[in-house]
Amino acid sequence: MQTLQFLNKTHMPSFALSLVLLISLSSLTSSCTEHERGPLLQFLAELSQDGGLAASWQNDTDCCKWEGITCRSPDRAVTDVSLASRGLEGSISPFLGNLTSLLRLNLSCNSLSGGLPLELVSSSSITILDVSFNQLNGTLHELPSSTPSRPLQVLNISSNLFAGHFPSTTWKVMEKLVTLNASNNSFTGGSIPPSLGNCSRLRELGAGYNNLSGVIPNELFNATSLEYLSFPNNDLHGAIDGTDITNLRNLVTLDLGRNSFSGKIPVSIGQLKKLEELRLDNNNMSGELPSALSNCTNLITIDLKSNNFSGELTKVNFSLLPNLRTLDVFLNNFSGKVPESLYSCSNLTALRLAGNNLSGQLSPQIGNLKYLTFMSLTDNSFKNITNALHILKRCKNLTTLLIALNFRGEIMPKDDKIDGFENLQVLGIGGCELSGQIPHWISKLGNLQILVLADNRLNGSIPVWIKTLSNLFYLDISNNSFTGRIPTAIMDMPMLKSEKSKAHLDPRVFELPVYSSPSRQYRVPTALPKVLDLSKNKFTGVIPLEIGQMKALLSLNFSFNHLTGHIPQSICNLTKLQVLDLSANNLTVQLQPL
Ligand SMILES: *[C@@H]1O[C@H](CO)[C@@H](O)[C@H](O)[C@H]1NC(C)=O
Ligand SMILES: *[C@@H]1O[C@H](CO)[C@@H](O)[C@H](O)[C@H]1NC(C)=O
Ligand SMILES: *[C@@H]1O[C@H](CO)[C@@H](O)[C@H](O)[C@H]1NC(C)=O
Ligand SMILES: *[C@@H]1O[C@H](CO)[C@@H](O)[C@H](O)[C@H]1NC(C)=O
Ligand SMILES: *[C@@H]1O[C@H](CO)[C@@H](O)[C@H](O)[C@H]1NC(C)=O
Ligand SMILES: *[C@@H]1O[C@H](CO)[C@@H](O)[C@H](O)[C@H]1NC(C)=O
Ligand SMILES: *[C@@H]1O[C@H](CO)[C@@H](O)[C@H](O)[C@H]1NC(C)=O
Ligand SMILES: *[C@@H]1O[C@H](CO)[C@@H](O)[C@H](O)[C@H]1NC(C)=O
Ligand SMILES: *[C@@H]1O[C@H](CO)[C@@H](O)[C@H](O)[C@H]1NC(C)=O
Ligand SMILES: *[C@@H]1O[C@H](CO)[C@@H](O)[C@H](O)[C@H]1NC(C)=O
Ligand SMILES: *[C@@H]1O[C@H](CO)[C@@H](O)[C@H](O)[C@H]1NC(C)=O
Ligand SMILES: *[C@@H]1O[C@H](CO)[C@@H](O)[C@H](O)[C@H]1NC(C)=O
Repeated sequence: MQTLQFLNKTHMPSFALSLVLLISLSSLTSSCTEHERGPLLQFLAELSQDGGLAASWQNDTDCCKWEGITCRSPDRAVTDVSLASRGLEGSISPFLGNLTSLLRLNLSCNSLSGGLPLELVSSSSITILDVSFNQLNGTLHELPSSTPSRPLQVLNISSNLFAGHFPSTTWKVMEKLVTLNASNNSFTGGSIPPSLGNCSRLRELGAGYNNLSGVIPNELFNATSLEYLSFPNNDLHGAIDGTDITNLRNLVTLDLGRNSFSGKIPVSIGQLKKLEELRLDNNNMSGELPSALSNCTNLITIDLKSNNFSGELTKVNFSLLPNLRTLDVFLNNFSGKVPESLYSCSNLTALRLAGNNLSGQLSPQIGNLKYLTFMSLTDNSFKNITNALHILKRCKNLTTLLIALNFRGEIMPKDDKIDGFENLQVLGIGGCELSGQIPHWISKLGNLQILVLADNRLNGSIPVWIKTLSNLFYLDISNNSFTGRIPTAIMDMPMLKSEKSKAHLDPRVFELPVYSSPSRQYRVPTALPKVLDLSKNKFTGVIPLEIGQMKALLSLNFSFNHLTGHIPQSICNLTKLQVLDLSANNLTVQLQPL
């Protein structure tokens, strides 16, 4: 109708007129066909929640103009259905398979349930199928091996509820497959299907966070185009075959973490020159690191935590890995010194050597690591805490420093020249059997949020300046020999007083997740509760009435001290409190009439 009105305007320049004619002509001839509209309306009908699609998907209009639909030029056939993040619920109609020109179907990030119709996986037109982040369930049915070769290139079924056996024969007819992401489902049984080795174009293969078992089949190493191979969090076992792995010379990411792999890292890993990310964490791997690891000069991430690796880290020449950003060898049996070559990895941001048998004094070269934000040396045998702190203060960007369970029996340095640490937010120096007092240099750490000095032999009283640490919300000085009264200054700590003030979110603080127990890990400091733990000391006197001020506290522990008097009624003002332990003192409760 609009077009007709325009045509009536006789003064319209002829160029514009012909353009209008052209446009109107093309839209007359090119409405989508009933053959295309039918399956789409059927899809709509099978949704229980259509996210408002019905408003645009009207039977009497051109389906090429419907929301989320794209058609191709000459014959106006539907090529794309793009309905990611639309709030769709209900099941996926198998009739979408009737759209014989459909190339790309993206239904990711909805709440679709039921099965994934075989008609879509086996479609003779679809090249990209993305149904990730839904609640699809059931098994993925196999395509019979007699099926002709399918055009599918990208299949993303990750983050759904698929279960049962991971398809095996299906992949025989998927010669064009470039990406398969099946991670975060509940696939079980069998191992990684050998037939994936037929997918010679396969670049990306992800099946992490399932229940797959068995070994990695040799055939898979025939998929020589693989760049991204990721099976974390399954139940896979066996050793990494040093001969086979060299076929995968294009590998950029190898993630086999959280399985039951055993054996050594093969020397031939050095031939994977493109490798950037190596994750073998939480397995049963052992042996020394091969010095050939230095040949993988593009490495950015090395995660070997929770294995039984041993020997000296100095086997690897880290100076050949200039791009290294993360090195995590937490919980292994490495011994000897920290390799000097590591300090030439100037881009290193996260270094965790915790839970090994490393020893010696820290090298002044650590100061070269200008980007270092996360450093954990916890539970080794490092010596000379004074030296360590003087060196580490030069890493200006450190936000997290965990050095607990080292420096056993030394004295807490009180040298006020320990300054710097401008960005430090988390400081853990527990379990070192340190003597001395809470040092004054800590008062200068204005960004400190978490301070753990537990399990030492520190004495003296809690300094009044503690209340000037305006970001501190987690203070644990339990199991020391502190004496004197509990100062009211502690009740004035801003973060414990105010329910409003939230800990600042600095994602760099826990560059690597921090474990408080094997089963509990923290990725952001705000996930930690507000805690005050003064237990197992020699505090005397009464609990100050002002205790009622710390309204933000979740956990308060004064147990095993020598506190006397009444438990103040104001403690009832701590309405957020989930843990309260005042045991093993000499306190009395004043019962109030109800
Ligand atoms: C899908 O195609 C089949 C066979 O060609 C046909 O019988 C059926 O009616 C079609 N369904 C829809 C909704 O288009
Ligand atoms: C759409 O309209 C056609 C006739 O124009 C009709 O045959 C068909 O049944 C309608 N489809 C739906 C789903 O209403
Ligand atoms: C599907 O759409 C989402 C949202 O736009 C996008 O992030 C995703 O990359 C798309 N999938 C594919 C395979 O392109
Ligand atoms: C899939 O989930 C639906 C509920 O959304 C349930 O009714 C159905 O039984 C499930 N099917 C399978 C095979 O688990
Ligand atoms: C699904 O996987 C493909 C290929 O890796 C990717 O391009 C797409 O973004 C993924 N979809 C979502 C929603 O992340
Ligand atoms: C890998 O492919 C080669 C030929 O390309 C073939 O000879 C060999 O048998 C295949 N290996 C496996 C384990 O499938
Ligand atoms: C590592 O590189 C050196 C020198 O480039 C070479 O001699 C050696 O064979 C390589 N080792 C491996 C396992 O690739
Ligand atoms: C460090 O990282 C930056 C990018 O963040 C990069 O440009 C630079 O080349 C890297 N330095 C080295 C020595 O690799
Ligand atoms: C330290 O971190 C800040 C951001 O907080 C950044 O701007 C700065 O470049 C970093 N400095 C170094 C030496 O990495
Ligand atoms: C500890 O380090 C300090 C400062 O670097 C140094 O003066 C001292 O000699 C070291 N102590 C030992 C026992 O090595
Ligand atoms: C605790 O709450 C009571 C009211 O329930 C109030 O009178 C008192 O001042 C509060 N004490 C503190 C220390 O906040
Ligand atoms: C506890 O306090 C009472 C008096 O308040 C005192 O008689 C008693 O000796 C104290 N007990 C201990 C173990 O300190």
